[in-house]
Amino acid sequence: MNRIVTRVVKFAALLSLLGLISLSAHAGTYEGYTLFNQSCFLCHGTDGKGNGPLAKKLDVAPADLTNGNGSAAESTDQRLFGLIQGTVRHGAGTSAMPQWGLAMPGNQIKSLVSYIRFLQRSKHSLPGDPEIGKSIYEDNCAACHGRSGKGDGPLAEVLGLKPKDHTDSGEMNKHPNSQFIQVVSHGTPGKSMMPGWKDVLSQEEIEGVVSYMRLLSNY
Ligand code: HEC
Ligand code: HEC
Repeated sequence: MNRIVTRVVKFAALLSLLGLISLSAHAGTYEGYTLFNQSCFLCHGTDGKGNGPLAKKLDVAPADLTNGNGSAAESTDQRLFGLIQGTVRHGAGTSAMPQWGLAMPGNQIKSLVSYIRFLQRSKHSLPGDPEIGKSIYEDNCAACHGRSGKGDGPLAEVLGLKPKDHTDSGEMNKHPNSQFIQVVSHGTPGKSMMPGWKDVLSQEEIEGVVSYMRLLSNY
C-alpha cells in the first residue's frame, strides 16, 4: 500500500468510528437492486426483461420492465409505485403479479422504482457484484466521495477535492465501466488526489466497487 492510501484508509476508519461520515446515505437504487434480486427475478428475470425461471409456467407473461414501449417504461414514478404496491391494476388483473404493498413498506417500493429506472436507463450494466463493493466503498472511498457518492466526504472538504457527483446518472452514463475500472485501479495522474487501488483491492473487488458506485445514482 502506498503511503497516501494507508493514511486515507486509517483516517476514513477513524472518521467512521467517530460517526462523522454521514449515515443518511441515499441507498435507494442499491436497496432496490437487492430487493429485486430477492423478490422479482423469479418472474421478471435479473435483467427485468420478463424471462425469469418461473415465467414460462405462468398464464400471463411477466411484463418486460425495461422495454422502451412497455407500460413500465412509460409510467410515471407514481404509477409504477402503484403497480408494484398493487393499488394500480395492470392488464386483466388476473395475473400472478403479487400485491407487494401487503409485504413491503413504501420506502422499499420506492427503491424498487429507482432500480427499475436503472434497468431502463443505465447505458452500462454492472461489471461485478455490488454487494462486494458496498463495504469497500464505505471503508475506502466514502471519506472523499461521500457516503452517498455526491463528492462531499469529510476529506474532500479539508483537501479541497472536487470528485464528480456519482449520484448524477447523466454524468455516470457518460463513462463506460472500463474507464472507471481503469481510474480505480491506477488512480488519476499527477497531483490529483484519486489514489490507485490495484495493490490494495482484487480485480473482483474493483469491479464490485464500480458496480456499487453505479447504484448510487438516482435514475
Ligand atoms: C410470481 C411472478 C411475479 C413476481 C414474483 C413479480 N411479478 Fe411483477 N408481474 C408479473 C406478471 C405476470 C405481470 C404482468 C401483469 C399483467 O399484465 O396483468 C407483472 C407486472 C409487473 C409490473 C407492471 C408492468 C406493466 O408494464 O404494467 C410491474 C411494475 C412489476 N410487475 C414489478 C414487479 C416487482 C418490482 C416485483 C418484485 C418486488 C415483481 N413484479 C414480482 C409477475 C410477477
Ligand atoms: C483521497 C481522496 C479519494 C479517495 C480515498 C478515493 N477517491 Fe476517487 N477520486 C478522488 C478525486 C479527487 C477524484 C477526481 C480526480 C480528477 O478529477 O482528477 C476522484 C475520481 C474518481 C473516479 C473518476 C470519476 C470522478 O469522480 O472524477 C472514480 C470512478 C473514483 N474516484 C472512484 C473511487 C473509488 C471506487 C474509491 C475507493 C476504492 C475512491 N475513488 C477513493 C478522490 C478520492
